[in-house]
Amino acid sequence: MARKKIIAGNWKMNMTPSEAVALVNELKPLVANDEVDVVFCVPAIDIIPAMEAAEGTNIQIGAENMYYEEKGAYTGEISPNMLTDAGVKYVIIGHSERREYFAETDETVNKKVLKAFEHGITPIICCGESLTQREQGITIDWIRQQIKIAFLNVTADQAKTAVIAYEPIWAIGTGKVATTEQAEEVCAAIRACIGEIYDQATAEAIRIQYGGSVSAASAPELFAQANIDGGLVGGASLKPDFGKIVNYKQA
Ligand code: 13P
Repeated sequence: MARKKIIAGNWKMNMTPSEAVALVNELKPLVANDEVDVVFCVPAIDIIPAMEAAEGTNIQIGAENMYYEEKGAYTGEISPNMLTDAGVKYVIIGHSERREYFAETDETVNKKVLKAFEHGITPIICCGESLTQREQGITIDWIRQQIKIAFLNVTADQAKTAVIAYEPIWAIGTGKVATTEQAEEVCAAIRACIGEIYDQATAEAIRIQYGGSVSAASAPELFAQANIDGGLVGGASLKPDFGKIVNYKQA
């Protein structure tokens, strides 16, 4: 069975609640395409207003982060129940910005992934190498390690429903998109790694996105690759361009 493409926006720390409503309303008609899964991952405070604005459309609202404990004295954190109660079905886990600025590690990523599955939330699990790592020729080794730790104790049935986002750090917010060959090479290696951990059926079911300066211009070729099942889009997800990315087939 062919994998359905999943095209997700990562709004990062942008958009106030009222701006979020305006953006959802602006993008609604532009992203109306049922052939792909369309997800807007928004700041926690925007989740409920964005959810209301997106009601009755194909847009699904996701979160950008989640904590791995159920509840309690974790000032400033968002629990899985808070997300599910608001109707959230997707959560980005382990984005490189969270790893860099908020000390997330492969181990905390694994805890969050397990907790998301426990609550029926689909994790969009991020991995990616730095420019130095790419230049040192250790990209694939590095990504395989990130994937193996992220999926510790995750069952095959859970893994089949997961989304992995391959985001080379040097391509994020830089306008420097990975070449199609680079992106496809790593996404294929990720799928092979999932095949080694689990089996062929799991490897074929899991969806792998590319992220890093995806634009309306680069999306069609990237998303046509055998192992790239969509994108995780930062800057361009805040603009009408996101509609073109979602409708990349019409380009
Ligand atoms: P840009 O698309 O702005 O490069 O961001 C990519 C990203 O980090 C998505 O999670």
